[in-house]
Amino acid sequence: MEEKYITLWDQSQFPKFGMGTWFLGENQSTRQAEIEALRTGLKEGVSMIDTAEMYGDGRSEKLVGEAISGVSRDSLYLVSKVLPSNAGGSRLEKSLDASLKRLGVDHLDMYLYHWRGSYALEETVDKMEEMVKKGKILHWGVSNFDTDDMEELLSVPNGNHCSVNQVLYHLGSRGIEYDLLPFLKKQNIPVMAYCPLAQGGSLRNQLLSNPVLKEVAEKYGISVMQLLLVFVMQDEFVAPIPRSGNPDHVMQNIKALEVELSEEDYKKVSNAFPAPNHKTYLDVV
Ligand SMILES: NC(=O)c1ccc[n+]([C@@H]2O[C@H](COP(=O)([O-])OP(=O)(O)OC[C@H]3O[C@@H](n4cnc5c(N)ncnc54)[C@H](OP(=O)(O)O)[C@@H]3O)[C@@H](O)[C@H]2O)c1
Repeated sequence: MEEKYITLWDQSQFPKFGMGTWFLGENQSTRQAEIEALRTGLKEGVSMIDTAEMYGDGRSEKLVGEAISGVSRDSLYLVSKVLPSNAGGSRLEKSLDASLKRLGVDHLDMYLYHWRGSYALEETVDKMEEMVKKGKILHWGVSNFDTDDMEELLSVPNGNHCSVNQVLYHLGSRGIEYDLLPFLKKQNIPVMAYCPLAQGGSLRNQLLSNPVLKEVAEKYGISVMQLLLVFVMQDEFVAPIPRSGNPDHVMQNIKALEVELSEEDYKKVSNAFPAPNHKTYLDVV
């Protein structure tokens, strides 16, 4: 596949699509298939893998480390996340070092503040900037930040170096379209869409059984799951990170990147699960 990118504030290129890893590495019996799934994506040209120190208490990062061993570091875009309880003091660097060790690399491309905790934003931003200066991360960003959190972040020194905000977004959970997404677009901070296949958030069953979605998916020769991906991909500012431990599903997800809906079909899909016309709290899992 030909990888697409979004340009970040510092003019660097951020992949428009990646692979999630929550729950991967937790079960010995599915471990090999999961490694194979990630390697399938890498072989097809997907560079971005999203993980976190929280996932399986480091086991997901270890699995990613195994999947990327032997792969040129230059062809990878690695994202991990620090837990709120580790997002300040000397803890952030310790967490980062442990993540790097589990992944078997000397730097991350992107390090995210997983969700807001009790450390002052100034302190977390300072630590993130320090890690950039040390070369342990190339960029930092946040996750699960709503519009008011973003406004606060952008008001602290160097807060405008925040590169991305990773939030829950899929056809059945479109609250961010009301104010967060337009706000981020104005600030040139792309969205990493987590749960793009509706693992979390609302309406998964309604999405999968919806007759309009079934009809549109059939027209394009794809599954409704693939259609969910096509929907979030259509926004040029949104980078989905679907997770799969199944190599065939990874291939299907990559295939979905080639599909573009006509304006009419996009409207049909959108109208079947419209975005709210008022402010809603940010969906989280
Ligand atoms: N920042 C945060 O707070 C946060 C929160 C949640 C998630 N995330 C990140 O976002 C990633 C994605 O979210 P998620 O893992 O919660 O959910 P998701 O990507 O919406 O859904 C994952 C589920 O979809 C299935 N699947 C994947 N491709 C499929 C296909 N082509 N056909 C049918 N089923 C398919 C997977 O099963 P198979 O394995 O069988 O394919 C898995 O059960 C996570 O892995 C994680 O990296 C971040």
